Amino acid sequence: MAMTASSGVAQGVGSISAGQAERSPFLRTTELLAPYQPAKPLITLSLGEPQHPVPDFVGPVLARHIAEFGRYPLAKGIEPFRRAAASWLTTRFDLPRPIDPESEILVLNGSREGLFFAAITAARYVGPRKGKPAILMPNPFYPAYGAGARAAGCELIYLPTTLANGFLPDLDALDEATLARTVAMFIASPANPQGAVASRDYFTRLKKLADRHGFMILSDECYSEIYTRHAPGSALECAGPDFTNVVAFQSLSKRSNLPGMRVGFAAGDRKFLAAFHELRNVAAPQVPMPLQHVAVAAYSDEAHVEENRRLYRIKFDLADQILGSRYGYARPAGGFCVWLDVSGRGGDEAAAIKLYRDAGVRVIPGSYLSRPQNDGFNPGAGYIRLALVSDSESTAEALHRLVEILD
Ligand SMILES: Cc1ncc(COP(=O)(O)O)c(C=O)c1O
Repeated sequence: MAMTASSGVAQGVGSISAGQAERSPFLRTTELLAPYQPAKPLITLSLGEPQHPVPDFVGPVLARHIAEFGRYPLAKGIEPFRRAAASWLTTRFDLPRPIDPESEILVLNGSREGLFFAAITAARYVGPRKGKPAILMPNPFYPAYGAGARAAGCELIYLPTTLANGFLPDLDALDEATLARTVAMFIASPANPQGAVASRDYFTRLKKLADRHGFMILSDECYSEIYTRHAPGSALECAGPDFTNVVAFQSLSKRSNLPGMRVGFAAGDRKFLAAFHELRNVAAPQVPMPLQHVAVAAYSDEAHVEENRRLYRIKFDLADQILGSRYGYARPAGGFCVWLDVSGRGGDEAAAIKLYRDAGVRVIPGSYLSRPQNDGFNPGAGYIRLALVSDSESTAEALHRLVEILD
């Protein structure tokens, strides 16, 4: 079934008509739950903030480089950082050739701001479009994609990700007219919230579309190191010898339990990155140099990442045991979120309220992470998202309480 240009298009671009679409799902959850008092000690599974230990090397490396807080950092990133990021990427993924640290890596203040600024860059970078410029994104999606697309003055086109399509946008459903006006497509693999992982074949098909229509693939891969069985691939693996039209976004927030440090990077298409760098040089937050040195240490060590995966694996084993196949649960291929279908239990908002009030478990209603398609179908409605970020005891306790309340 081909999706027409309008069938997946959000109405009303702009901050006023955007309404709830502009608002943080976390703020909306806070407002939803504000009238209620939890009956039990609170366990928060709403926020995707990793709570495993900060790696041991962080303090000493920071201390050694403390004086560099006294200097303005360059937007591009220090050379040791770019070399460490390029070397990690080249070792970790099966790339067509090694990434060039000089021209194919840019440091980011966490991947969020990078995703936002990349949408703005893409709208300026790609040539004229046949029709109103559009940015495609999965639905549900990470809010920075929508904010970036709006700031870029593009139309937002939501591609529903559902159980039926394996929780990845259906590339065959995109019609030629929509593709001809596409500036960029955001893709998240592993996906947040469902944890779906794009295959090599999927990325190859997407790259073909991007090359044919001259749009950018903005591949959000910040969960790539959190998996329980197979290491997810990267869009860069299928991007050809020059990574043309493909930029991958990485972060230490999830990989190294450093969400507060705010360090990540963008890698790929050098021409796009040159334009990205130019915009970032005047508009984006630079990354403090001592933090880039910590990042060098982080990208040079896999032991803490393996330990991190072990801790998540324990929690997913618990989820397998406690949830079984309830609420459509299936262990995700990647990431640390659990996406549960509560449509038979009063819907996502009602389930979130009940869990908070009666069980002291805080989760996000799925419809806060997604938007209604033009036909009114909201692919996140009827789901709740749990982020398995706290320790295994709290996770087990929360899952037991959840089953008790929802069953
Ligand atoms: C899908 C996705 N992308 C990007 C980010 C941004 O992460 P950071 O800015 O910490 O790298 C997050 C954070 O939760 C996320 O879930």
